[in-house]
Amino acid sequence: MPGGLLRLCAMESIPEGQARRVETAVADFAVFNLGGAFFVTANACTHGPGNLGHGPVQGGEVVCEAHGGRFDIRSGRATRLPCTEALMVWEAVLRDDAVWIDFAAGRVAD
Ligand code: FES
Repeated sequence: MPGGLLRLCAMESIPEGQARRVETAVADFAVFNLGGAFFVTANACTHGPGNLGHGPVQGGEVVCEAHGGRFDIRSGRATRLPCTEALMVWEAVLRDDAVWIDFAAGRVAD
């Protein structure tokens, strides 16, 4: 991890309004492109087996494929049942046309 950053994917690999699951040696992440701004959350739904990187994205929220729960992509907060527990989120760092994160700086909304 050069500079303490972990490279997740090329920016161009995620069209606007879409999500992508990125698997790495340390964890699986969901990377989102909201109008050209990138956001990163844990891939695993806090409710169960859903992969949030599979989307879909609706109005700034990701809908879990498993049971239809939702999360705010920017904050990680659960916004629709059955999800109640917030996701871990990371600030996306854009460098060399790619999305990176500082893995140690992940946080969970209050
Ligand atoms: S696993 Fe995501 S809503 Fe149940």
